[in-house]
Amino acid sequence: MAPPGCSSSIRSGPGRNCRASTTCFAEVLVNLGAPQPVGGFRGWPAVPDGSGAVGRHLYVWLYLTMTPHVRRYHAARGIPDVISWTTLGELGAEMTSTRSMYGASGLQWQWALPLVFRGAFYRLGRLAFDRATISFTDPPLQPGASAIYTHIPEGGRLSPADCDESFARARTFFPRHFDDNPVAFLCSSWLMDDQLAAYLPEESNLIRFQRRFRLLPNPGDTSDKTILDFVFHRLHDERDIQPSVLDTLPQDTTLQRAYVTRLRAGHHWRSRTGWFPLHNRPAAPAEFAGIR
Ligand SMILES: CC(C)(COP(=O)(O)OP(=O)(O)OC[C@H]1O[C@@H](n2cnc3c(N)ncnc32)[C@H](O)[C@@H]1OP(=O)(O)O)[C@@H](O)C(=O)NCCC(=O)NCCS
Repeated sequence: MAPPGCSSSIRSGPGRNCRASTTCFAEVLVNLGAPQPVGGFRGWPAVPDGSGAVGRHLYVWLYLTMTPHVRRYHAARGIPDVISWTTLGELGAEMTSTRSMYGASGLQWQWALPLVFRGAFYRLGRLAFDRATISFTDPPLQPGASAIYTHIPEGGRLSPADCDESFARARTFFPRHFDDNPVAFLCSSWLMDDQLAAYLPEESNLIRFQRRFRLLPNPGDTSDKTILDFVFHRLHDERDIQPSVLDTLPQDTTLQRAYVTRLRAGHHWRSRTGWFPLHNRPAAPAEFAGIR
């Protein structure tokens, strides 16, 4: 979660950007090496509209200033240089994505990069992962156990073989470089929505990816806007997505067509959370109980 000082000073205008960046910098240093907070990380606020080139690059300068600190942290944990630099390269990927969404360079609202630069998040092949603490009960998982949170960066397809390789790397990476004893992989995303199975073929990568996980019973928030961002690279500020917006969306792929069909029928997409045991074998309950 962003510290209150950081959030309010960024929102109150570009003149306060310097103080905001100092607060965010301090937050990262204090949390260097800490996993995601229990209950999740809320991210840092968006740079306000009209901040100009300097404001839009506020977070970029911040991350560049943090780089020597996180590099020292990685080295102290024995993390190989190639993983360290690939992980920090998420900064470039996010700037590319921002440019395609906003038509201007810089960075906007921030979620993954603060975790990258505090040393909690690592790119391991196709997938990325960060250290998390379980905050729910879904037997045998118990709150307080450590887990590995799965991210799906943009770029290329999601082949099962690439995912297998990434999960295998994560299984050894986190116990080797951290003192955690993770018991499960977690994932929360629009692409975990089991409603997709009504639209996509069984053999599609998305369906095969989500079938690795056991879903928590309660659906999360609607992900209609998230999909607009990740699938269509469109920004949308209004609460609902109007039919006039749907009319403008490309309909080139099965997923794009599914998105529009479902919303036109008056239904929504949901973010879902799922997990599977780290070693994909029946787990002894004692293995999961309150492990920290
Ligand atoms: C995750 C991702 C790589 C999956 O792509 P994939 O490997 O092609 O997935 P599938 O095989 O299941 O695709 C099934 C269908 O959906 C389409 N599709 C999948 N992801 C799509 C996307 N982001 N945009 C448009 N169409 C997409 C595919 O083209 C395919 O349709 P087609 O057979 O008509 O061509 C892709 O969705 C992506 O890059 N997403 C952005 C990252 C993201 O959302 N991360 C999660 C953040 S919470």
